[in-house]
Amino acid sequence: MSNFYITTAIPYVNGVPHIGHAMDYCLADTCARYHRLIGDNVRFQAGTDEHGNKIFLKAKELGVPVEEYVAENAKKFQEFIHKLGVEYTDFIRTTDDSHEKLCQQIWLKLKDHIYSSKYEGWYCTGCERYVTNKEAEENHGICPDHQKPYERLEEENYYLRISDFKDEIREKIESDELLILPEFRKREILKLLEDSPDVSISRPKAQLTWGVPVPDDDTQVMYVWIDALANYITVLGFPEKDISEWWPASAEFVGKDILRFHAIIWPAMLLGLGLKVPKTLVSHGMVLADGQKMSKSIGNVVDPIEVMDKHGLDAMRYYFLRHIDTFADSDFTWEKFEDAYNNELANDLGNLVQRLATLANKNGISAPKVKVNLPKEYRELMDNFEFNKAFDFVWEKIQGINRRIDDEKPWALAKAGETEKLEKVMGEMISNLVGVAHMLRPFIPGTAEKIEKIFSGKIVPPETPLFPKN
Ligand code: MSP
Repeated sequence: MSNFYITTAIPYVNGVPHIGHAMDYCLADTCARYHRLIGDNVRFQAGTDEHGNKIFLKAKELGVPVEEYVAENAKKFQEFIHKLGVEYTDFIRTTDDSHEKLCQQIWLKLKDHIYSSKYEGWYCTGCERYVTNKEAEENHGICPDHQKPYERLEEENYYLRISDFKDEIREKIESDELLILPEFRKREILKLLEDSPDVSISRPKAQLTWGVPVPDDDTQVMYVWIDALANYITVLGFPEKDISEWWPASAEFVGKDILRFHAIIWPAMLLGLGLKVPKTLVSHGMVLADGQKMSKSIGNVVDPIEVMDKHGLDAMRYYFLRHIDTFADSDFTWEKFEDAYNNELANDLGNLVQRLATLANKNGISAPKVKVNLPKEYRELMDNFEFNKAFDFVWEKIQGINRRIDDEKPWALAKAGETEKLEKVMGEMISNLVGVAHMLRPFIPGTAEKIEKIFSGKIVPPETPLFPKN
């Protein structure tokens, strides 16, 4: 049994959760459940990112005190995570006093790598990111993700000397000591690292008050990404506590849009603190709506609560974990979702459970004793974070059992009085289905549990189908 620490990106609370936010949680929770299943001791952090200009301006626009605004939205995120069935162990808000205090201690520990200088350049509040002149030029002064002009900043800031750590970071990424998944993103990051300048890590209070105060300088607050990234270790109590039991993290889940912060600034901070870098950065793709980025202005934002209320939690998890590619951008459309629900969940799986349970019940067949073990192929895919492929593997097994029922026709065996063969065939199919349920546990835990329950002891078909059709 080993310790396995999983982290998720902490969302900005400048709005309510949207469907894209489900991605980090579905992947991380599946990973966590799988590791518990194989006997690991899992710690799982989640939280909310509550500082920065973007949030401050939004609260101001709404005329709500910023503390109240962030508290209200943080609650919505927490409710959302619960509704998704995520079994996290720690929840952190970056406005927690303990987090702020530990961030200040972290800042002081990084002192040797921090210097003050003037920042003259571009900033995107939507991304909360300093933008190089080259990038601003290439994008004609407008952020492609937020469709807003970059802001020109001229201010006195503190900088983190990324140059102190560049060689070490490159070496760790190249050797996979810091494994970046998928592989092609690793190459992108190595390229980006070459040109990475030192990074500004504070903002003058005159421009922005909503942040963690820089220790020993009451004119500055920390740049939001510095306090946000630190959450992964402040939640464990660093630097006041020894975190070696859990650190380095086994897997950090982030969207591809924020990989650069996690693969450059974050390792630099960690190395500056004398800590190890995370073992794996799993960078997932974006959830799109009909091939387009979801945005309020286009009006194509899908509400995840609506999806869960309409078809249930496992239907949502199913779509996200099987039909949204773990690493590439993928579409969510209601049409695709409903097709997957009806054809796969209701037909392939729901009907299979109903058919097998009914046949067993009718013919007085009770559940065989099953010793479940996870197939090597499944384990390899799960160990390598290839979740949608592992789910495909499980689904092939489901389709295999369906084909076997059609081929062996147990009802005909019953009619012909071939009891021995009937019991053998049914026993094998039920054992396979229980094995499938075991593999489904990390993905759709509620359904897996129902199947395991139906096929234990006396088999009684469920009164309502597992996935009722619309
Ligand atoms: N606050 C930062 C993260 C700090 S982590 C130290 C942030 N917040 S966010 O709200 O913009 O995004 C939170 C997570 O949701 C990120 O991993 C991001 O990639 C993910 N997603 C946001 N929109 C998404 C989609 N449309 N699709 C998939 N993931 C998306 O970045």
